[in-house]
Amino acid sequence: MELKVRFMPQDKAVKVRPGTTVLRAARDARVHIATRCGGNAGCLMCKVEVEAEHRGALASPTTAEQRKLGPLLDQGIRLACQAVIRGSAEVRLPEDPLKAAIRKQLERQQEDDLW
Ligand code: FES
Repeated sequence: MELKVRFMPQDKAVKVRPGTTVLRAARDARVHIATRCGGNAGCLMCKVEVEAEHRGALASPTTAEQRKLGPLLDQGIRLACQAVIRGSAEVRLPEDPLKAAIRKQLERQQEDDLW
């Protein structure tokens, strides 16, 4: 059985077998998720967001995820290296903080230019 996982905002999808981690699926889809700990729930760099309607497509959080993410789990945040796929799902990668800061600055400049 193959499952489909879609990564947003890249809008790239890949077919995977149940039991695949989100990180492995992202690599198969050629979607970059930064990591520093080798997928051991140590760096927290691989956080992804899962909308409520897709949360059931991932296995329950591991003990490591529960310990590391705590209340963020209730907001749909998961660790890509730990979250195991068990159904077709859509996963959203958060915007890179540096890119977000640049985008906000550009938006402010555009607003200033309008005045
Ligand atoms: S890769 Fe480091 S926490 Fe997931």
